Amino acid sequence: MSRPRVLSGMRPTGRMHLGNYVGALQNWVSMQEQNESFHMVADWHMLTTGFEDVTRLKQDTLDMVTDWLAAGLDPKATPIFRQSRIKEHAELHLLFSMLVTKSRLERNPSLKEQARDLNIEDQTISYGHLGYPVLQAADILIYKANMVPVGEDQVPHVELTREIARRFNYLYKPVFPEPEARLTAFPRLRGLDGNRMSKSVGNTIHLTDSPEEIATRMRTAYTDPNKTRKDSPGNPDGCVVHEYHRVFNAAGAGEIATACRAGQLGCVQDKGDLARILSDVLAPIRERYHEIKSRPGFVEEVLEDGEARARKVAQATMDEVREAMNLP
Ligand code: TRP
Repeated sequence: MSRPRVLSGMRPTGRMHLGNYVGALQNWVSMQEQNESFHMVADWHMLTTGFEDVTRLKQDTLDMVTDWLAAGLDPKATPIFRQSRIKEHAELHLLFSMLVTKSRLERNPSLKEQARDLNIEDQTISYGHLGYPVLQAADILIYKANMVPVGEDQVPHVELTREIARRFNYLYKPVFPEPEARLTAFPRLRGLDGNRMSKSVGNTIHLTDSPEEIATRMRTAYTDPNKTRKDSPGNPDGCVVHEYHRVFNAAGAGEIATACRAGQLGCVQDKGDLARILSDVLAPIRERYHEIKSRPGFVEEVLEDGEARARKVAQATMDEVREAMNLP
């Protein structure tokens, strides 16, 4: 029996932060043992909205993959590759684009949300951006993935992928499985200021930050504004520091909440404790990071090796696709 296939990817956003870790990476790392995983840098997807300024594309790719490896992705077990290096994704995207209507794409809630976030109007959305989920379907189905570990926001894209797979299988030949989204336990971790975590806002902690950086950043975290002194009773609900405790310190979080409510724990101390806990959790990641950084060219090698392996699988699928569609 072959193991289930897993595919997931991210747009190259550079260094990874805690939200990337609990929202995706941690899940990828834990899934790679029992499954046959593939992970890709969605650099073409990045271009759907970031086509104007491409100066950081290469460096952001390397920084992101460095952090994937530091987080524990094992490149021997798991091919890691750049989407744009596997041209077959583009071919399958083109063929799939025949099987989807324009109105179906316009109804996609993920796309609508993204367009709203980026202030893109209906009239100015590009052809490539509208086809974002079709390209994503090609990414997933070209590896015949069974599972797609993603955050909640990506579920509509996986749903469209299933529709495309069904349509192809029905029209031509049963080539594709119907993949399922695998949601992470913590779909969204808020930024330190309590708002949505985002690199551009600067409310993040990077996976490879030093213990000192973590402590400094943690001091800026949002806590209960009504807790004005260290001995006044606080409300841990809605407090970012407490939210992080629940994620990174599950065993201790209950006791901390009780002490906070009773006015026995001040925010300054609480933040210091959390910073130390986080530093410990991230210590193995930091260690691997420095090891990788000491090997120049290593990440590029990992990618080229992953690309050779991914390409073989993609090419085999495309042979089946062309055969099913009567293409030469
Ligand atoms: N759309 C995904 C994101 O926003 C990235 C992505 C591209 C992806 N292709 C994929 C995710 C295939 C899962 C599977 O981050």
